[in-house]
Amino acid sequence: MFQPSRDWKAISARIPVRRDESKQGLNGTMRHISVLGSTGSIGRQTLAIVREAPDRLKVRALTAGRNVSLLIEQAKEFRPDLVVIGDEARVNDIVLALEGLSVEVLSGTDALDTAATYPGVDTVVTAVVGSVGLRPTLAAVEAGLRIALANKETLVVAGELIMPRVRAGKAEIIPVDSEHSAIFQCLVGEPAARIDYLTLTASGGPFRERDPGTFSGITAEEALHHPTWDMGAKITIDSATLMNKGLEVIEAKWLFDLRPDQIRVVVHPQSIIHSMVTFSDGSVKAQLGAPDMRLPIQYALSYPDRWPIRHTDMDWSAAGPLEFRPPDEHAFPCLSLARRAMEEGGCMPAVLNAANEEAVSLFLSGDLSFPDVPAVIEKAMKEYADVYGSGNVDSDQHAATGPAISDSDESKSKRNRITLELLEAADQFAREFVMELGEAGSH
Ligand SMILES: NC(=O)c1ccc[n+]([C@@H]2O[C@H](COP(=O)([O-])OP(=O)(O)OC[C@H]3O[C@@H](n4cnc5c(N)ncnc54)[C@H](OP(=O)(O)O)[C@@H]3O)[C@@H](O)[C@H]2O)c1
Repeated sequence: MFQPSRDWKAISARIPVRRDESKQGLNGTMRHISVLGSTGSIGRQTLAIVREAPDRLKVRALTAGRNVSLLIEQAKEFRPDLVVIGDEARVNDIVLALEGLSVEVLSGTDALDTAATYPGVDTVVTAVVGSVGLRPTLAAVEAGLRIALANKETLVVAGELIMPRVRAGKAEIIPVDSEHSAIFQCLVGEPAARIDYLTLTASGGPFRERDPGTFSGITAEEALHHPTWDMGAKITIDSATLMNKGLEVIEAKWLFDLRPDQIRVVVHPQSIIHSMVTFSDGSVKAQLGAPDMRLPIQYALSYPDRWPIRHTDMDWSAAGPLEFRPPDEHAFPCLSLARRAMEEGGCMPAVLNAANEEAVSLFLSGDLSFPDVPAVIEKAMKEYADVYGSGNVDSDQHAATGPAISDSDESKSKRNRITLELLEAADQFAREFVMELGEAGSH
């Protein structure tokens, strides 16, 4: 059984938590939320929703990576019981700035687990970017909380570990990704067994019309300019390479418990249809609306209710034609790489994800070209397969890396030997491999 790490350090004195507040909002349900990654794009939009619904949402914990000034501002406004800063060197700045407030301040990545399961928290918004979200999400699952999941990397890396625990316990995962929220909304009241297939829509990114022959000249600045969505840097690059859609295909497989062949992708440049479900009788349900992440964030908090929210009304008579076309997997190989990793299973999605995180970082710093992003990911996957045999974890070498099976109820598949330690070892392997390629300039 997974146990969250408890070796975090308390920086401030422990201050009594305000637990005497009523848990009843105007409609009888006050959610007490922890926002992991409150300084990012999803985190800030989550807090904008809290600002509009103070009778329904109370912030208990906020966490940031490095953005100390915004975290301080947020803590002063939302008065959480706990704030966490990833960058340990900056913790004293926060303690000083929040002196006199009733708030505990912690630092370091391990403290994310504490924020996820802080006393009084019933809902965790996972808005951190990358596989750093894995441990706190597992901690929230073990604690039986609602998880408003934006951090798709967690399910990509460890869906196999997380979802059986969710289904066996009290925790619930409500997707925040707009495509998965759309599908989730389409499935309300429907029998899951009657899903024929899903269709995830993709904007196609900023280079959908660009001649692939010019891709080597793409700069980070160009790639950071997404046509539809205003998002964090990493997901914006993932959208440009179509890796984002690949990660979403894997996320959908785990969230909705589907076979790989039940998940299709279509490019829909207008981003008005957020995704669709085709049922076994041929009926297709879609969820539509203006591209605005506040809706799926809020729905993950309000479900099964819907709360009034300030929104852009669609003027359908002016919406213009809605276009659909197949994704160009030749020009954008990341989508096929993700599918390959999903089909291989085991640790391969962790390898794909970590290699991608490092490749994106190298691209953003100007140390890797745009076409080299999928190239180094493919090399990392091949290297991993050469060393360990494949994405599954049956190899002796790999089995020796981590402890034995931790799930007692998963005995059939050879992949049931997946553990957090094995996934983290695969993640580390891929990161080191890509960093070495980057340093050697041999990609
Ligand atoms: N943005 C969207 O519209 C959107 C849509 C769908 C899904 N998602 C998913 O939501 C997640 C967040 O995306 P985003 O666009 O909001 O990203 P973002 O703007 O880059 O924000 C990331 C957040 O994570 C924090 N963080 C980064 N590295 C950290 C670390 N090592 N330890 C602790 N905290 C860390 C950042 O802190 P600092 O800024 O303080 O360093 C920031 O608060 C991603 O998984 C993304 O795929 C985003």
